[in-house]
Amino acid sequence: MTPGKGTAMDLQILPLENQKEKITDESKLGFGKYFTDRMMVVEYDRGRGWHSARIQPYQPFSLDPAALVFHYAQEIFEGLKAYRHPDGSIGLFRPEENIERFNRSARRMCMPELDTDFVLEALKELVRLEADWVPSSPGTSLYIRPTMIATEPVLGVKPSDKYLFYIILTPVGPYYARGFEPVKIWISDDYVRAAHGGTGEAKTGGNYAASLFASTLAAQKGYDQVLWLDAEEHKYVEEVGSMNMFFLYDGKIVTSPLSGTILDGITRKSAFALLKEMGFEIEERALTIAEVLDGAESGKLQEAFGTGTAAVVSPVGQFTYKDRTVQISGNKVGETTLRLYNRLTGIQYGTEEDTHGWVRKI
Ligand SMILES: Cc1ncc(COP(=O)(O)O)c(C=O)c1O
Repeated sequence: MTPGKGTAMDLQILPLENQKEKITDESKLGFGKYFTDRMMVVEYDRGRGWHSARIQPYQPFSLDPAALVFHYAQEIFEGLKAYRHPDGSIGLFRPEENIERFNRSARRMCMPELDTDFVLEALKELVRLEADWVPSSPGTSLYIRPTMIATEPVLGVKPSDKYLFYIILTPVGPYYARGFEPVKIWISDDYVRAAHGGTGEAKTGGNYAASLFASTLAAQKGYDQVLWLDAEEHKYVEEVGSMNMFFLYDGKIVTSPLSGTILDGITRKSAFALLKEMGFEIEERALTIAEVLDGAESGKLQEAFGTGTAAVVSPVGQFTYKDRTVQISGNKVGETTLRLYNRLTGIQYGTEEDTHGWVRKI
């Protein structure tokens, strides 16, 4: 663990006095409900840098009610997974990518960066200590949530002088309770997620808070997720709540470009590589809403799926925009979607060869 931006310190391992009861029936895990025994914490003070890195028992923080995060939402986070392999070992999927994206989010939100090697080593150590919490049933994994919050107690809109970085772990089942089944997506007409120049490509809590109103309306109408259109013309497909969108359109794979308003998904990047290997041409352009709706009806739009760490690959069976509903692939899982899902999860779970060198063993 080298000194540098963010570190210059050892990682202390504090004793654990009590262990929680583990969930033995892994079909009951759900998503993000149970947390492991330990967490990793690092503190930052302007002038001193990062210090007091430790792995400690999982416990609540005591924060001043004036802490900046509570008022002006200076907060960022990440999401990645550790998977149990058939030989019992544990693999992290492309963790460096998450740490680098975390640092990009930090820069956008005026927060201090962390040393990538330090975070990776500390993360591996935390998962090693919590290895018994990594589930092994099909579709389960250990979800990892690195987070940074602004803790300086002062009322005033300015970058904080104090921060907490922490990592918590939660054993999870499939993101959608129904498993690998086509989802129903509501396309938002009135509400938008991110505009050019805003914070859309940063993984910051405010983006998600701003999405709650539309996703609540969508859930009330029976939809699984909201698809966001661009903020300027409300015409071009951007992304879904926690996924990047892919379309098999006219024989080619089409996905929105990274223009600053959507998240630079790590599953998106991985899907690119795997779909190219399957022989597909990939077009990075934003489909229009008309192309999606008319394409679904004419058959030009053959498949649609979302990609993201939580759900990995999620087939879309239906889109609704205003009062028009269209079905995709007859509301069944498309062939390309299934091939991609099998290949990607095969690499993640260690049942297929990791030809790209994406997996980091603990
Ligand atoms: C808004 C948004 N888009 C896309 C993604 C997919 O990104 P990744 O594949 O890195 O999980 C996520 C999930 O992190 C997300 O929150």
